[in-house]
Amino acid sequence: MARSFPAPVSLHQGAADAGPPLLEVRHLVTEIQSRQRRLRAVDGVSFQVRRGEILGLVGESGCGKSMTALSLMRLLPPAATIAQGEVWFDGQDLLRLSPKAMRRIRGHRMSMVFQEPMTALDPAFTIGSQITEVIHAHGTDSAAAARARAAAMLDRLGIPNAARRLDSYPHQFSGGMRQRVMLALALVMNPQLLIADEPTTALDVTIQAQILDLVADLRRELGLGVVLITHNLGVIHEIADRVAVMYAGEIVEIGSVARIFSDPKHPYTQGLLRSMPYLYERRPSLHVIAGRVPDLGIMPRACRFAARCANRIDQCTETHPELREADRDHELRCYNPTPFAR
Ligand SMILES: Nc1ncnc2c1ncn2[C@@H]1O[C@H](COP(=O)(O)OP(=O)(O)O)[C@@H](O)[C@H]1O
Ligand code: SF4
Ligand SMILES: [Mg+2]
Repeated sequence: MARSFPAPVSLHQGAADAGPPLLEVRHLVTEIQSRQRRLRAVDGVSFQVRRGEILGLVGESGCGKSMTALSLMRLLPPAATIAQGEVWFDGQDLLRLSPKAMRRIRGHRMSMVFQEPMTALDPAFTIGSQITEVIHAHGTDSAAAARARAAAMLDRLGIPNAARRLDSYPHQFSGGMRQRVMLALALVMNPQLLIADEPTTALDVTIQAQILDLVADLRRELGLGVVLITHNLGVIHEIADRVAVMYAGEIVEIGSVARIFSDPKHPYTQGLLRSMPYLYERRPSLHVIAGRVPDLGIMPRACRFAARCANRIDQCTETHPELREADRDHELRCYNPTPFAR
């Protein structure tokens, strides 16, 4: 049966301002040391996020989404290093900052939430002490003021009896509540940019919806810029303004949600959209694109998607396609795009 994607419900459109970008990533290259070789997990990624804008970053597992996010935060695992690029945030290139200057920005003006809250919360300390620690690291609040601020943040994030719950330990919270605590940790210093890496994947559908609605509200209220990483295009359709599709370390298509969902041009984007039969159920994608993302060690020289692409022509296996403007606010990396047929 033919399906059509309804226009995105625009809680969001017009939310982003028109000033200079809050975040501008230019030609980011992140490499992983593997035995004798350095492998490129992120290969020339560029994008912008405006104040009040939610940029979705999508792609199958292993495409380099988390490595991109961790590069922006400069929180890469030891084997990984940023080899090239610039990350302009509010007027400065984060990649040129000293570790100390970066620590002042991280958790204060930009922060990150991860998929699994238990890995980021310390089971041995109360929620309140973990949140006030962040406040004390970046501010000058008294102990009482920090506690009040932490409670206000938990309350804002929908945690009942917030002041009392400050004395609870992480294991006393449900998964959804822990994810709210993670958001509280990320947002308590009122950052300008939030990077959320699969923040709801481990949660059930109702809780996922609540957390995502919360992020959408905060963006509207606080003018927060958000990079929202997910493999779920349904989520992006609902709350993002723009979307970047990553494949094998590169962005293959980027543009407004309205455009990408109504007229996706890259065969990979088209495949991802076809794999989302129930757009509003926020189900994980079904794997209907045959084949898999190539390993970093055996990356095809020309188009990285060629082995899985029905549109392949000779040029696709000869030279590497560049990301080029396809339309207004729409860039595409493909030699042979065809209209989208569901
Ligand atoms: N700590 C690590 N050590 C070595 N390779 C890694 C590490 N983390 C990720 N990778 C590799 O980097 C590539 C990108 O991974 P990642 O950014 O985690 O993808 P995604 O978040 O899109 O699923 C993958 O090929 C993955 O195997
Ligand atoms: S460049 Fe060629 S192989 Fe690559 S996605 Fe486009 S049509 Fe397919
Ligand atoms: Mg990831």
